[in-house]
Amino acid sequence: MLSTKIAGIGYYVPEKVITNFDLMEMMDTSNEWIIERTGIEERHYVSEGEGTSDLGAAAARKAIEMAGIATEEIDFIICATISSDYFFPGSAFQIQDKLGLNGIGAFDIRVACSGFIYGLSIADQFIKTGQYKNILLVGGEVQSNAMNFSTEGRDMSVLFGDGAGAVILQPCAGESKIFSSHLHADGKYSQALWAEVPACNLKPHISHELLDQGRQYPHMNGREVFRHAIVRFPQVINEALDANNLTKADISLIIPHQANLRITQAVAKRLDLTMDVVYSNIHKYGNTTAASIPIAMCEALAEGKFKRGDNLILASFGAGFSWGAIALRY
Ligand code: UT7
Repeated sequence: MLSTKIAGIGYYVPEKVITNFDLMEMMDTSNEWIIERTGIEERHYVSEGEGTSDLGAAAARKAIEMAGIATEEIDFIICATISSDYFFPGSAFQIQDKLGLNGIGAFDIRVACSGFIYGLSIADQFIKTGQYKNILLVGGEVQSNAMNFSTEGRDMSVLFGDGAGAVILQPCAGESKIFSSHLHADGKYSQALWAEVPACNLKPHISHELLDQGRQYPHMNGREVFRHAIVRFPQVINEALDANNLTKADISLIIPHQANLRITQAVAKRLDLTMDVVYSNIHKYGNTTAASIPIAMCEALAEGKFKRGDNLILASFGAGFSWGAIALRY
């Protein structure tokens, strides 16, 4: 049986940096509140007209370069995003076009913060069965265009940022491999973290009245999300360890979805781990949803936090609720 290797990885964040002080000009918030509750100091926002597919294609080019393949060798594209350029079709199609790969299969998945984990698991199945040889998986988001920047929306808008990360996945007979993936969801909590509009169960999907009510903005029950996240993260990380007869000592680095520094710290504490083996870079990017894990992987790799042959666990929790983990040897 073939296994799946991460052959290349790259990320791209838009140029514009928005600090907590910039947000203080738009709403009633403070640098202290944001840092104390979330750990976020700044995040990147797109410029007008820049979309998830632009960020995704830029990240993809870096991953392709690192993998040392020709772009034309990519035979399938998956994009994990909840902020596709258009309502439909998904951003995978525009990424495909921007890379000049017209003709190959492409699709989006909408699993929010767990999108990259779900996407990696899907790609792993395609590689293991021998169907594809160079899959491009992108996790990308433009969250800044969706937010309510008035004081009413401050609980959400201070958290999120824009960016994209990408990996090239290849079959491998050697040391590097995805060991297993563990995917979960509980749809009972769909409305605990959601954007309702445009809603296809409403006719019309969007109206002046709905917009006036602010129902196009994402809403969240922050405390409910927090409460579940600090249980589900450790649970699914332990599940990934147990499934592979690994102990925490076998893992060089855990890379969680960057939801909130307090969540990451609580997860480390519950797992009885120090923060040097649980990666965090949320202070620079905020929560970039499906992009956060590949961006964090790129930075952790560049910082020498892991190298080829090291065991990693990637883990996520977010809207759906959805959560998951991947155990792999890089
Ligand atoms: O990928 C998953 C995405 N979601 C998350 O990761 C979020 C998980 N949840 C959280 O991290 C936390 O719930 C938050 C950081 C969102 C909020 O922290 P909290 O300690 O749960 O605060 P809270 O919602 O209970 O609000 C406390 C106070 C409220 O004021 P009052 O009612 O006590 O007067 C809020 O209105 O903080 C106020 N508040 C703010 N103040 C300044 C809420 N947002 C802000 C803000 N700046 N941005």
